[in-house]
Amino acid sequence: MKLRFLMVLLLVGCGSSDPVDPQGPPDPQELEKQADDARILFDEIFKAAEYERIPEVRAALKAVYDQDSSVNDGDVAMLLGVTYLWNTAEWERDPSRGTEARRQEVLKGEEYLTRAKELRPTDGRVYCWLGIMKAFRSQVELNLALYQESIDLIDQGIELFPQFSHLVVAFVKSGWAANSTEFAGAIEHIWKNVDVCIEGAIDRQNPDFTQYMHLMSNTGGQRRACWSSDLVPHNLEGFWFHMGDLLVKNNQPDLAVTAYENAKLLPTYSTWTYAEEMETRQTNAHENAAKYRDSDTKNDPPLLPQTTFQCTVCHQK
Ligand code: HEC
Repeated sequence: MKLRFLMVLLLVGCGSSDPVDPQGPPDPQELEKQADDARILFDEIFKAAEYERIPEVRAALKAVYDQDSSVNDGDVAMLLGVTYLWNTAEWERDPSRGTEARRQEVLKGEEYLTRAKELRPTDGRVYCWLGIMKAFRSQVELNLALYQESIDLIDQGIELFPQFSHLVVAFVKSGWAANSTEFAGAIEHIWKNVDVCIEGAIDRQNPDFTQYMHLMSNTGGQRRACWSSDLVPHNLEGFWFHMGDLLVKNNQPDLAVTAYENAKLLPTYSTWTYAEEMETRQTNAHENAAKYRDSDTKNDPPLLPQTTFQCTVCHQK
């Protein structure tokens, strides 16, 4: 009796309807379809900011990755790594998980993003994401060598994809003290990001973006990363939010007010979930700048990279 039952189970397990055939190599077409479905699920969950569904999309990506890590030119490896990036970046959504759990997540993410970098050696974004992971780990492990590795990776990202990567340096360097060289680097890179996007030099005493908005019609090639788009619905709004915050910390609240104001030029501004949050920061810009200058570091307002919406600020639809 027992044996027959087992045989039936085995037969069911080997049925041709099972997409994962343990006996042979995966069918490439079937695998690509699975990969496409996983990517669609990722886009859906990310744009809906459904952080709690990360395990679900991760399982879908991992099921493909385990059959062939190079599928879709490394797109799956990249997205799988990014699920760890998103999870660890917005970790404070569920702080009960603790620091060690976060470190383990960072290590996993590094593993997949390292594989993605092998598979996509000209994709500057992968260098940046791996760089952010290393920066996260450098904070947890208090390891400056890792921080330097992070910066070196992002520098390579800048070579490949400056429109995207300057912002990432500004992210990683933003947490240093306002009077440090590293923080000055964050400020320099955020200005450079604007400059590469307008292919010129913005007035650093008056960064009003109105006169550049017409460039939005030219999103060819890597310029796409300069604007909000279907891929990143509120990219530029998130950019100005971040830049405004940095200028506040840099004790330039008037310039920050202009930077925040620029977000309102976007046609997508009215549907942006984080508009109110940004406007509060805009209203409090002078007060917040003073908080960075007083001796109490505990009252420093959190910058965008210290929030639980540091990814969804640009990606939530
Ligand atoms: C300032 C806005 C901004 C923030 C904040 C931001 N991103 Fe992005 N993200 C972008 C841009 C711009 C691109 C598109 C680059 C391109 O065109 O290839 C992008 C691309 C992506 C993609 C690739 C999308 C795809 O389908 O190919 C993923 C995944 C992603 N970001 C994840 C994240 C995560 C995780 C975070 C938080 C750590 C984050 N992003 C924070 C602007 C942002």
